[in-house]
Formats: sequence, C-alpha cells, structure tokens
Amino acid sequence: MEKILIIANWKMNPQTLEQAMQIFDSIEDEAKNIKNVKVVISAPFVYLPKLAEKQSEIELCGQDCHWEKKGAYTGEISAEMLKNIGCEYVILGHSERRTYFNETDAIIEKKLKAGIDAKLKPILCIGETEEQKKLGKTSVILISELTRTLQQLVVDHMIIAYEPIWAIGTGKACNPEIAKKNLDIIRTALTNLKVKTSSVLYGGSINQKNAKDFIKAGFDGLLVGKSSLNSQEFNHILKLFA
Ligand code: PGA
Repeated sequence: MEKILIIANWKMNPQTLEQAMQIFDSIEDEAKNIKNVKVVISAPFVYLPKLAEKQSEIELCGQDCHWEKKGAYTGEISAEMLKNIGCEYVILGHSERRTYFNETDAIIEKKLKAGIDAKLKPILCIGETEEQKKLGKTSVILISELTRTLQQLVVDHMIIAYEPIWAIGTGKACNPEIAKKNLDIIRTALTNLKVKTSSVLYGGSINQKNAKDFIKAGFDGLLVGKSSLNSQEFNHILKLFA
C-alpha cells in the first residue's frame, strides 16, 4: 500500500527559528512511529537549511518557487535552490499565492515546469471559491485549473491538492462526500490530460476530528495548514493512521 502523504504547510509561521525547530522535533518524534504515513514539512524558506541539517526522515517542501533557474529577480527563490538545500517538494499555485500575489494559471504552469526540471515534486493546489461553489461552477473551475496548468507538461506522477478556497483557514472543512465527488472529477481530468499516475490530497481546515474522513473518501493524503503549527494537534492527526 502507498503511504498516506501528509504535508504540513506552515505558511508564514512560526516567527522564530527556535520555534520552528521545536515544532519540527516534536513532529519528528511522533512521525518515527507512524509507518503508514510520509510526513512532509513545508516551512518558510529561511528555516529550510537548518531543518535540512537534521537529516530527518521528514521530507522538506518549499512554499513557492520562481520559474527561472537564476537571475535578476530580487526577492525570489529558484526551484534548483530548493533542491540544492535538500527539499524534495514544492507547493505551487496555493490560493493565497493566487489571491495576494496575482498568480495566474500561466505563471503556475511555468513554475510547475521549473519544479519538474529541478527534480522536485510539485504539489499543485486547485479549488473553487465560495461564489463559484454557489453558482455550481466547481467542476468547471477544477477542470480548467488542471487543464491550463498541466496540458503542456510531460509528467509521470503529479500531486494535486484539492483545497476549496472557502475551507482554507475558516474551520469549515468540505463535506467529505462532496469532496469525494470533486476528487472523482479531478481524477477523470488527470486521466484525460494523460497524467499517468497521481496522488490527490485534500486541504482546508483539517483537524484531528475530520482528517480520517477524507482518507476514507479516497484521498491519498492531506495538506494541513493551521493544525500543523500545533505539534500536539498535528501528531494526533498522524496517530490516526498508525
Ligand atoms: P488550513 O490551511 O488547514 O489552515 O485550512 C490549509 C492550506 O492552506 O493549505
């Protein structure tokens, strides 16, 4: 059986390296005992080299990258840099990047290509807004985000995070049955796009009470924001799969 992939997305947290190390160590202590789960931590760029020095089983993930390998792009980080300091993964197209930094599908497509070229495993985030859900447009949105970002790429395995935007950071996770319908839409779209194999994760207000429902619904893993900053809560989630 494939391991369940659980990714902690710390976003722009915590505020000190010391806190980051503490959370990491506490998660690592638990993760060692959970053989069915692959734990990945997506930390702010500045903490990644220190976390990489730990040579832990926990794999590291960037929260974004630039589409070029190097050059005059003040403030940016390339996919190769992430790979070179020991990251295996990179989150791309997170809704916070799309909303606050105006990332379009065209930009995300270029970043995906950069991530793949650098031999990182990109995690492509997709999801509908509350408004789009109300208008019954969820499937159109999911298919269009996948098509626009993936149709020109040659990828064997793709990791997708289905994150309904209205469920992120709101405490209102998606109903697992509805999430399952959207999972089926995503899987069919990926087959049509000739993506050979994929892992589809659920993200959006995951906690220890609801985490299992999404794995039961057929998701291959979870992308966890707020609950991953509290190592006790996150470790409870891991224990569900021991
Ligand atoms: P949340 O965030 O778990 O705090 O809702 C999820 C995410 O943004 O990846």
